[in-house]
Amino acid sequence: AETHYHEFVVQAKPVKRLCRTHNTITVNGQFPGPTLEVRNGDSLVIKVVNSAQYNVTLHWHGIRQLRNPWADGPSYVTQCPIQPGATYTYRFTIIDQEGTLWWHAHSNWLRATVYGALIIHPRLGSPYPFSMPKREITALLGEWFDRNPMDVLRLAMFTGGAPNVSDAYTINGQPGDLYRCSSQGTVRFPIDSGETILLRLVNSALNQELFFAIANHKLTVVGADASYTKPFTTRVIMIGPGQTTDVLLTADQPPARYYIAARAYNTANAPFDNTTTTAILEYKSASCKKGQASKPIFPSLPGFNDTATATAFTAGIKSPSRVKVPTNIDDNLFFTVGLGLINCTNPNSPRCQGPNGTRFTASMNNVSFVLPRANSIMQAYYRGVNGIFTTDFPPVPPVQFDYTGNVPRGLWTPRRGTKLYKLKYGSIVQIVLQDTSIVTTEDHPMHLHGYHFYVVGSGFGNFNPARDTANFNLIDPPQRNTIGTPPGGWVAIRFVADNPGVWLMHCHLDAHLSLGLAMAFLVENGVGELQSVIPPPPDLPRC
Ligand code: C2O
Repeated sequence: AETHYHEFVVQAKPVKRLCRTHNTITVNGQFPGPTLEVRNGDSLVIKVVNSAQYNVTLHWHGIRQLRNPWADGPSYVTQCPIQPGATYTYRFTIIDQEGTLWWHAHSNWLRATVYGALIIHPRLGSPYPFSMPKREITALLGEWFDRNPMDVLRLAMFTGGAPNVSDAYTINGQPGDLYRCSSQGTVRFPIDSGETILLRLVNSALNQELFFAIANHKLTVVGADASYTKPFTTRVIMIGPGQTTDVLLTADQPPARYYIAARAYNTANAPFDNTTTTAILEYKSASCKKGQASKPIFPSLPGFNDTATATAFTAGIKSPSRVKVPTNIDDNLFFTVGLGLINCTNPNSPRCQGPNGTRFTASMNNVSFVLPRANSIMQAYYRGVNGIFTTDFPPVPPVQFDYTGNVPRGLWTPRRGTKLYKLKYGSIVQIVLQDTSIVTTEDHPMHLHGYHFYVVGSGFGNFNPARDTANFNLIDPPQRNTIGTPPGGWVAIRFVADNPGVWLMHCHLDAHLSLGLAMAFLVENGVGELQSVIPPPPDLPRC
């Protein structure tokens, strides 16, 4: 195994998109940021130098960070942010993970532009479970804001879900042909007729699930969230923020230029960016014919609210063969996820954009998660500092009701808090995540740090334990780190709490995370016992 050393300088750099130049926060001046390419078993040492004007942290999305929460990165959860002018070195080892992951900033909305791919190949000499093509390409799907994303965040916090609308979707940072001033930069992927390539897809958009397709081409899914999957063929992919999907693509069509395109899957009753980003799959023999740049062929993409297609795609993802799903649940948890409304103390405040003197919020089990600012949760826990968090996150919602109906608001007024749920090290956990349908009915891509989990079931309407548990897939469920809670429905996940530390679980729509759609687990050996966690590195920032 190798150790890879990198220096990531977080710095502002002028980036021109949609006819305008913005001073954009980048890593090493690159947007999107550098790709990390390693093998299973390798170690990474990444010195982050913060030369930007904002506090920053980096998160290695999907890396389990076994016994090493100090390298996970969510600000105020596992570490205090790296302040302007300061540095922090992330050190971690890839333990039994292969496939496509990514990294991104995990403070405020910096991840709008601070992100990149993290590709993990098998150990030298160990095979892929499918015939691995000679060539691979990566497509990071993103969102571009024609404003400073930090201002967009401030605005979104005033008005709930609505004005977080971006100005373009992007593929590898480029909006593509259909946007103003963007043709020049359109990403082109040349391909030989008959060639098969591995395409690694990442949804790094801030706030949007996306449909993805390539005109006239079938895609064979072979991996998701750095777990291999049973190969299946599809025309359309739905991918939520945080998720990755690996597909095999064969150039089996007449030589021509084909659009690769992505646009929103959005069931929320809120404004969103309904434009389409494109790149071009260019058969080499076709691009030679000079002078006749015929228009590329356009794929058909589902309608923005086509939940049936989105759900069918996600349900098609399975583990390649029988897996050992943990049974005999120790912690049987039921968490609601959704937006909510709280009364404004000052109805004239600009934050007060909800109906009847309310403002938007978001919660899990009626608790709207608040990041502590005085310390990070992990540091406070490790050093025995009181008053930073509590461990009374409820295992079930305080009030049960019909989550698909029109809910009286009196039943559902979130409280704010930094509440953790304690898991005993080694316990077997099941969580059913239920969309509340309050304010919006929406697919919430839920991400758990420090773990991957089996997705054992999902459905629409209210979760019904008697009926739905019987239908769980305990044979070949997929293993993931981010899974959508279907709009007006539920999803059930299972994992073994084998990674001590503090681990955030949250909606990967940053607008919802900022509104409090998050909670955290404290996994410990016994009361106050985390002795198997490595000690904090000496350069760990302090708040
Ligand atoms: Cu990819 Cu907590 O994030």
